[in-house]
Amino acid sequence: MKALAYTRPLEIGELKQALAMQECAVPEPGETELLVQMKASSINIDDIHVAEGTFFGGLKPSQASEETPSIPGVDVAGVVVKTGAKVDGFKEGDEVLGILMPKPGRGTWAEYCCVESRMAVHKPASYSFTEAASCAVGGKTAANAVMSARAAAGDTCVVVGASGGIGSIIVQILKQQGVKVIGVCSSANVALVGSLGADLVVDYTRGPFGEQLQETKVEVVIDCIGGKDTEAQALRILRPSGRFVTLCGPDKYIGETRVGKRGVFAMLAYVGRRALLSMISGPRYIMAGIGTSLEPLEKLVLQQGIKPPIDRCLPFEETAVREGVAHVATHRAQGKVVVEIA
Ligand SMILES: NC(=O)c1ccc[n+]([C@@H]2O[C@H](COP(=O)([O-])OP(=O)(O)OC[C@H]3O[C@@H](n4cnc5c(N)ncnc54)[C@H](OP(=O)(O)O)[C@@H]3O)[C@@H](O)[C@H]2O)c1
Repeated sequence: MKALAYTRPLEIGELKQALAMQECAVPEPGETELLVQMKASSINIDDIHVAEGTFFGGLKPSQASEETPSIPGVDVAGVVVKTGAKVDGFKEGDEVLGILMPKPGRGTWAEYCCVESRMAVHKPASYSFTEAASCAVGGKTAANAVMSARAAAGDTCVVVGASGGIGSIIVQILKQQGVKVIGVCSSANVALVGSLGADLVVDYTRGPFGEQLQETKVEVVIDCIGGKDTEAQALRILRPSGRFVTLCGPDKYIGETRVGKRGVFAMLAYVGRRALLSMISGPRYIMAGIGTSLEPLEKLVLQQGIKPPIDRCLPFEETAVREGVAHVATHRAQGKVVVEIA
């Protein structure tokens, strides 16, 4: 099969040059896995971080080599062509979407991949493969963040990074639940975030959002960007009983730099201390994780027909995907960047 892969450990910023179209063996599904013929996948910022060894600050260096090339990508949208002996609920020909837990050499930017059956669901008929690929890991993360936020109908929630792959889904889930949404983005994305249903859009290039909203009190802030400055702005507007839910923690764009074990422990210590102290005196500080179940994705995203905006669809070609990686790495994507494989 054809796959886009790299064959050496990468430094920060190198994935875009190192990706090359290669001929690889079609993987064999394990007992609980599905072999999927890929139709589409997407490029997530964390696919780049995993490949460049900076995921979550760099806990896992990449092991890629000429003998074991690494294929990036986790979002699966395609057709089941083979099932493992212990798989229940899926058969050959089923259209699925799913999420791969990355293992060396086995990503989704390929013609075939194996996905754990518990990490796959039947693709709703109302989603094209491109749309399905755009809301797998992003939809799951967004759904988990909303569950952690526990906003009630009538509450006001600020979404920082509302135009991104995850933020754009969060805005739509919250609106669907009757929450008043304030989206934060740059001038270029004000119209996009408004079109997702946000009641108010704050352009952060005109000043910090906490300053612009200083007359407002809100129940929830969901942070898809990270950084202590984002948290400080949120604390200006959150009610004492409110919740600050962050996907990234105290460092802007988690995974952007290789902070090493000490850096990761310092970050976790900050998160733990903030979470604990906020139980005594609010607003609560919550770091949302990705979770292990696909139920929130199914209930809050797929069954509601929620889809993120698609920034661009790329052909499954070396140059196009390299350019897509470079675009996602700028943090300026407007929604999702999808690779159409077949
Ligand atoms: N905790 C978890 O389990 C988990 C799971 C997955 C991902 N993540 C993290 O979640 C973050 C978001 O992921 P994503 O896929 O949504 O990223 P993304 O699609 O790359 O986000 C890009 C968006 O970020 C916005 N942005 C950049 N700087 C901003 C700022 N200072 N203020 C407000 N918006 C800003 C950009 O909008 P403008 O151009 O308008 O600024 C752009 O639309 C990533 O850092 C990722 O590592 C966490």
